Amino acid sequence: MDRHKNVLQKVGTAIVLLLLVACATTKKQVRIVEDFNKNWNFKLGDYPTAIQSNFNTADWKTLQLPHDWSIEGAFNKDNPTKQAQAFLPAGKGWYRKTFTLPEDWKNKNVSIEFDGVFKNSEVFINGHSLGIRPNGYISFTYELSPYLHFGTQENIIAVKVDNDAQPNSRWYTGSGIYRNVRLVASEKLHVAKWGTYVTTPEVSKEKASVHLEVTIENKTNSEKEFQLVTSILDANNKEVANAKTTEKIGANTNAKKVHNLNVNQPKLWDTENPNLYKIVTTIYENSKAVDNYETPLGFRFFNFDSEKGFSLNGVATKILGVCLHHDNGALGAVENIHAVKRKLTILKQMGTNAIRMAHNPHSLEMMQLCDEMGFIVQAEFTDVWKKKKVTNDYHKDWDAWHKQDLEDFIKRDRNHPSVMMWSIGNEIREQFDSTGIAITRELAQIVKSLDTTRPVTSALTENVIEKNFIYQSGALDLLGFNYKHEDYKDFPTRFKGQKIIASESVSALETRGHYDFPSDGVKAWPPKYGAPFDGNADWTVTAYDQVKSYWGATHEDNWKTIKKQDFMAGTFIWTGFDYLGEPDPYPYPARSSYFGIVDLAGFPKDVYYMYQSEWTTKPVLHIFPHWNWTAGQEVDVWVYYNNADEVELFLNGKSLGKKSKQNDDLHISWRVKFEPGTIKAISRKNGVVVLEKEIHTAGAASKIALVGDKQTIKNDSYDLVYVTVSITDADGNMVPNANNLINFEVSGGGKLVGVDNGYQAGLDSFKANFCKVYNGKCIAIIQSNGKNEAIQLKASTANGISSATIDIKVQ
Ligand code: GAL
Repeated sequence: MDRHKNVLQKVGTAIVLLLLVACATTKKQVRIVEDFNKNWNFKLGDYPTAIQSNFNTADWKTLQLPHDWSIEGAFNKDNPTKQAQAFLPAGKGWYRKTFTLPEDWKNKNVSIEFDGVFKNSEVFINGHSLGIRPNGYISFTYELSPYLHFGTQENIIAVKVDNDAQPNSRWYTGSGIYRNVRLVASEKLHVAKWGTYVTTPEVSKEKASVHLEVTIENKTNSEKEFQLVTSILDANNKEVANAKTTEKIGANTNAKKVHNLNVNQPKLWDTENPNLYKIVTTIYENSKAVDNYETPLGFRFFNFDSEKGFSLNGVATKILGVCLHHDNGALGAVENIHAVKRKLTILKQMGTNAIRMAHNPHSLEMMQLCDEMGFIVQAEFTDVWKKKKVTNDYHKDWDAWHKQDLEDFIKRDRNHPSVMMWSIGNEIREQFDSTGIAITRELAQIVKSLDTTRPVTSALTENVIEKNFIYQSGALDLLGFNYKHEDYKDFPTRFKGQKIIASESVSALETRGHYDFPSDGVKAWPPKYGAPFDGNADWTVTAYDQVKSYWGATHEDNWKTIKKQDFMAGTFIWTGFDYLGEPDPYPYPARSSYFGIVDLAGFPKDVYYMYQSEWTTKPVLHIFPHWNWTAGQEVDVWVYYNNADEVELFLNGKSLGKKSKQNDDLHISWRVKFEPGTIKAISRKNGVVVLEKEIHTAGAASKIALVGDKQTIKNDSYDLVYVTVSITDADGNMVPNANNLINFEVSGGGKLVGVDNGYQAGLDSFKANFCKVYNGKCIAIIQSNGKNEAIQLKASTANGISSATIDIKVQ
């Protein structure tokens, strides 16, 4: 990828400086890392002869990876993926690419890196099978060198993807090469795949020690002597420590070498100041650099305590986390660093400081951004062991693959400072029988053999000791419990001396911008469990924090419990964003989840501001619902606020009284007889106004408003701009029940790659060039098409509202 090139260019610059000092030799970049996403051919179906050089791909599509063919398909209730996977198609597909390599690569070690292919991939180079990989979330690498042609003769790489056996997941997976692919060329003497492991045995503000293990691979037939140079660079690429040793390695072998270094006055990594360093490893042979390799580094120490919960760098810190699935909404499973960054930015602004990567390894970009943006990560291996949850899930590959998959997962992610917990499984069936004991011990041992610096945990549902065999294994360092928040109070005695986190909580249901009255009283789904939620005919769920799944809790009830329990390290809310699939509580046409604090399009639901008022110190005043009702109707007005001791509500200038939160209240509310006009809230502290918010009754739909999340886009064919589209009245007030169909046209250096309105039961394609606004809003996602031309997005409706345009500059 170009981004990697940039990183390596920066590293290259640093290496030049380093070498001037250390080796007095000039230097250029030695390891070559190339974006290998472009110019693939693709076709749905099974084409075993595509591995041959004379195969004709004239009727195949040409595309750029990452790619997810499921999201391009149509929703159909008969698709075998069913509701869990959003009723989108799966099946088989083939990718094929031809490429040439320079003559001077002949003596290099050339490999291909796949960050993730869903699933059952088999990769062929020039007719040779390189291997299969059933697990769709694990990153893998193949060495190509023995089979390659150099010079003008073409190479053919073909990838078979078989996602046909369904159902195979409880959530949307996507299908295809949905993460990045790179081509890597190094010399025959090089740092092995995931060949570094860094730990920081001592960390304080005064000093940190760094222990670096480097696995070197010598693919030549002779013993080699080489210099191993480690350079630690700070965020400004200034070297803060280095080490240099002369080493030997036998022919055709691997060897582990160790450097210990110290850094004085390190800037510590935490969730507010995620200070990062990096380690540049360089191998020199006869004073010539033959490989360079970069490892992320952050200095932090953390502790889970059975009484005091979690601390980071010695500071008591509640883990304020959310669970996320890996899809990027309208983009499907296609991984894109800009999409992930937007998601994490929205969550950071809410006050989230932690992410649980449900229920599988996430992308490199996700891990990198968690390091850079300051999120504590619970990295998770799987949702299933040997006992299945759905017919064709990972249980089928368990025996043959779990060891390698788990090892690869840990090796890839163990250098990320953000990672602070390894979860070996979510709600694993084996917790309920004695087979759970041996498997837990085996998995914990695999993790410990590769990393002892983070606790091994598992997200459990059973909190009765006698019934939980994963717990009984004694192999967990940290107990994760999903749901049943009413039981937490008993845990300090029941699990005496154990460290505990609420690995999953809430599972409440909401649709953005939809409100049902009255808003008081908790409703449960399915209705047989408690006060019933019977469902709405339009597949919506009220956005008041009122409807929960029977196993879960409302956001408020859960947070009230967690915040009071010091022993509890924190929680991960199910979920930060709505995700594709698992649309409880509804059948078809509902196709995406209702659990998110933020909807699938990235628009916060109201409860987002409850968290913001509790999880941040910035002043918050959020008032809802909208103000377009029927005269005389009773409307419940809720207010989330903080940093104030009272809120006064006004309807058309008339005070409806002051209120403040009592006891452990998380919101205040008024029942108001609706009259059109303005509803306004003012928060005050000691009589001084903190914030004012008002909502006006919107008139007839009259305009389209377009707002991009950035004004410029890089012309790199990856960068994204998310344009929020709203329908407003003549005065610019969003029309809260608008549902106009908007047509999009993009010109210049961009293309439309996705549309969405956050409505969980919409059956229009995310890839259409139109979108119906839902409750006033939708998004259009524009991607650079690589051309250096200014972009214009035009949005228009068929029903008389004037069209609007937005210009996006290209860099
Ligand atoms: C949990 C499970 C999640 C999701 C959630 C929905 O039990 O771990 O994957 O299914 O329920 O409420």
